[in-house]
Amino acid sequence: MQNEHLISHTDISDEFISEYLEVNPELDEITCLVPKNNESVEDLLEENGFRYLGKRTVEGEVRDIYKWFRNLEKYEAMGAFFDRRADDYDLHMSENSDLHETGFISLLKAIPVMKDPLSILDLGCGTGAELKYVFDKVPNAHVVCVDVSEKMLYILREKYPEYIDNLEIMCKSYLKMEFGKEKFDYVIACSTLHHLLAEDKLELYRKIKRALKPDGVLLIHDYISLTEEEELTRREKFLSLIENGEIEKSQIYHIDIPLTVAHEEKILKAAGFESVRLERVGENYVIITA
Ligand SMILES: C[S@@+](CC[C@H](N)C(=O)[O-])C[C@H]1O[C@@H](n2cnc3c(N)ncnc32)[C@H](O)[C@@H]1O
Repeated sequence: MQNEHLISHTDISDEFISEYLEVNPELDEITCLVPKNNESVEDLLEENGFRYLGKRTVEGEVRDIYKWFRNLEKYEAMGAFFDRRADDYDLHMSENSDLHETGFISLLKAIPVMKDPLSILDLGCGTGAELKYVFDKVPNAHVVCVDVSEKMLYILREKYPEYIDNLEIMCKSYLKMEFGKEKFDYVIACSTLHHLLAEDKLELYRKIKRALKPDGVLLIHDYISLTEEEELTRREKFLSLIENGEIEKSQIYHIDIPLTVAHEEKILKAAGFESVRLERVGENYVIITA
């Protein structure tokens, strides 16, 4: 990737982009910063192949970032998706997510305040937003952090220099690794599992159950489908992308296929979690303690 080349959204049109690239053939990406919540500009950018990336503060003002990438596939692979967005992820989440502060505190309330070196597995840890709240409660925790995005993990490392010895960081897909048996007191999965089909989730939950100590707890915060119909529609669209060869079954993509709360509960029970507590947050998120 080249350095960022900012263009003004007032210049955007197909012709402008082609001419711009012709004059600058070395460019792999073009960045556009837009004042927040300007829907007509957002539409214009999306029509012209720009992708929404996140937020950035420029001279004290928060702006939406859109980027255009050369040769970008319609469906982005998970690691590359988050690599592209990593620099702006924390600001974006702190502005947009219900998870911040009170959300993380609710998610982690099953974890007691203690000095013991609890063993925690954080799946899809990203930049480690949840870890601040983990270390506030358990400063001696040993946390295995797993993510497929190298850039998200790089930021995590930079953010927690004082806890670097407590962290074991792995750049891997949690679908393709073994977690071991009865190793963890807690497994956390925060905003990361809504890209999995029910059958893949069941397999993952079984693996998590096996990796938890007998009184261990799984803590999930995730995006949900509000109705069975919504879940089914998304699932069928996803399966048709595989069938049409637009995506590969063996890869992970940033495509949302959330389950309903009832389906989540059913799969967790099928995976062997006896007690499942579900707490709805906002309209379409849930915190699950299993
Ligand atoms: C929305 S971010 C959440 C990050 C962090 N947990 C938080 O709440 O801020 C989702 C993260 O899950 C990671 N992810 C998604 N699927 C994954 C997989 N199969 N294996 C490892 N990481 C995955 C992504 O790379 C991304 O960093």
